[in-house]
Amino acid sequence: MPNTKASFSAKDFGDDFLWGVAIAAAQNEGAHDTYGKGPSIWDVYSKKARKIKSGHTPYESCDFYHRYKNDLLLTKALGFSVFRFSISWPRILPDGVGRINKEGIHFYHRVIDECLKLGLVPFVTLYHWDLPAALEKEGGWSAHLMLKWFSRFVTICAEEFGHKVKNWIVLNEPFGFTSLGYMLGKHAPGKIGMRNFLPAIHHAALAQAEGGRILRKLVPQAYIGTTFSCSEVVPFSNNEEDIKAAQRVDILLNRLFIEPTLGYGYPRDDFKFLDKLEMYNKAWKHRERMRFDFDYIGVQNYFPIVVKHNPLIPVVMASDVKATKRNVPHTSMGWEINGDSFYRILKKFSAYRGVKEIIVTENGAAFKDQLVDGEVDDQKRIDYFHGYLAALLRAKNEGMNIKGYFAWTLTDNFEWAEGYHARFGLIHVDFKTQLRTIKNSGYWFRDLLTSR
Ligand code: NOJ
Repeated sequence: MPNTKASFSAKDFGDDFLWGVAIAAAQNEGAHDTYGKGPSIWDVYSKKARKIKSGHTPYESCDFYHRYKNDLLLTKALGFSVFRFSISWPRILPDGVGRINKEGIHFYHRVIDECLKLGLVPFVTLYHWDLPAALEKEGGWSAHLMLKWFSRFVTICAEEFGHKVKNWIVLNEPFGFTSLGYMLGKHAPGKIGMRNFLPAIHHAALAQAEGGRILRKLVPQAYIGTTFSCSEVVPFSNNEEDIKAAQRVDILLNRLFIEPTLGYGYPRDDFKFLDKLEMYNKAWKHRERMRFDFDYIGVQNYFPIVVKHNPLIPVVMASDVKATKRNVPHTSMGWEINGDSFYRILKKFSAYRGVKEIIVTENGAAFKDQLVDGEVDDQKRIDYFHGYLAALLRAKNEGMNIKGYFAWTLTDNFEWAEGYHARFGLIHVDFKTQLRTIKNSGYWFRDLLTSR
């Protein structure tokens, strides 16, 4: 049991603050080819690309599909009042388009009903990276038809679940899935190059606004947001080249998607990549279509990065100086631990004109957890959450309009290219037996949240 008391209480965040925990379909559900589900790009990629550590696949994961009741009870027991999960597109539409899989629809009704029964508010993500493989064959996010495909999927979800679910997230980290999946080839579908990346960005920017519009039209009283991955970008030195490198990386990591959403179009700076993006997509024509008046913006922050000029790296001409080399505290992913930087990111995103409310839709840390005698003593994770939540409270007390916080994540799960090696959960999972063990960080949250 943890004995570290937080230096704040949940009450300090206000009575209406949303305390949630987040998961995602491809990372948690398992049941990848049963109950009518079609293959996702992650099912295909994990099998053929051998790019996932130890050849892991998301096929079984932590079996949320069969264990959702148990996992929702645990969510409740840890004191959370909001549950974020995503809807698997290939579970609803096995071929991406066309025939609807009724069993998939029933599954999400069961999950939502269970949440409501337990008094957990469901927060639904529409796209958390598991594109139907059938659509990737047609070009995936690089294809213009994506807008049509995605609109249909959103319409089905809004019509089916909109009377029960009011809280929506359109896309999860568009920069994450377009850059890793369509430029660097490190995530599914494993594509590389500008010819894939440039249109993928643009279709994601259009889809996030279009998804918002569909929800607004079909779901009465909907509370609609979308999420961005954000990282403070710090130049390695004061020399001009490093400062400029940091500006370029900042555009990509932090500004590329929020600015068109807010109606500013893509950032326009001295950075050739932006001209290419604009020209390739004739983006000036779609400025209005990329805009949507979101009720809140989902900020997802884990770490800051330090960058220096590096002419050998194409496009961005910058590389990051790893936390491990800089000798600063870091997680097992090698991500710097820095609550002050989280505070600055909240400040940066709050400062945008047009951002009405912010919800931290993800934050958390992976460590090399050990299950010893039925206990996972993850003090480092407790310290991480403590530092980041203290920073959030500071931001909130200074007047930033932050409405909620979601810990990533409930149970250890499939961490994309890291497979099952990176454990982010508040609950430990033995992937052989599916046994769940609440980590000390889980108890820490329970103590914090049940004292409300
Ligand atoms: C962001 C992603 O949304 C989530 O899927 C992932 O597991 C976490 N970051 C941790 O890397």
